[in-house]
Amino acid sequence: MTDIKACLFDLDGVIVDTAKYHFIAWRELAAELGFEFTEEHNERLKGVSRMTSLEILLEVGGVKLSEEKKVQLADQKNERYVSYIVKMTPNEILPGVVVFLESLKQAGIKTAIGSASKNAPIILERLELTPYFDAVIDGNKVSNAKPDPEVFLKGAEALVISPVECVVFEDAEAGIEAAINGGMRCVGIGRPEILGKANLVIPGFEHFGLSELMKLEK
Ligand code: BG6
Ligand code: MG
Repeated sequence: MTDIKACLFDLDGVIVDTAKYHFIAWRELAAELGFEFTEEHNERLKGVSRMTSLEILLEVGGVKLSEEKKVQLADQKNERYVSYIVKMTPNEILPGVVVFLESLKQAGIKTAIGSASKNAPIILERLELTPYFDAVIDGNKVSNAKPDPEVFLKGAEALVISPVECVVFEDAEAGIEAAINGGMRCVGIGRPEILGKANLVIPGFEHFGLSELMKLEK
């Protein structure tokens, strides 16, 4: 019997690459404000909340604005971002994800999304992935951003599974830290240089299945 009873997934960068759409929308906003926003700058926004992303962007451009104006610009960026993500199809699900989710279902392992994004429900719907998750904890349901473990602890709570029986999948360093802070094991999706604190780092789900998951057993 395995001691792993649930898998908790970050969404952006783990299930689907939405960073490119965030980038286009932020870059357009920066252009309107009169400065260039590069892909390298965009790296700093991964895993970061919408308002913190805007703060970073304004810092890049050396622009100072009132709180009211910031909220207005964040809304404007989100409208653009949503106009891109509503066009997404299941073809954009990252390789190996669906096969892995199917195998978890068959093994009776629970699943949840733990994402900073307030758009998580619409993304899951467009990707036709909603039925694969027993719980969705998104940016609308948490008040503390990763590395605070709130999003994953709420996920475990919704599944009625103890944190020590959960494994988190994350592409951002702050997300790995959130898992560790919540007392969970974690798998980094991406580069070991960045995600070194994870129990295991993999490039994606293509060669990752139940037998690899079980190697994370306590
Ligand atoms: C995270 C992304 O998942 O969600 C960040 O990695 C993004 O880049 C954050 O800023 C908030 O997303 P949204 O969709 O609520 O603006
Ligand atoms: Mg992510």
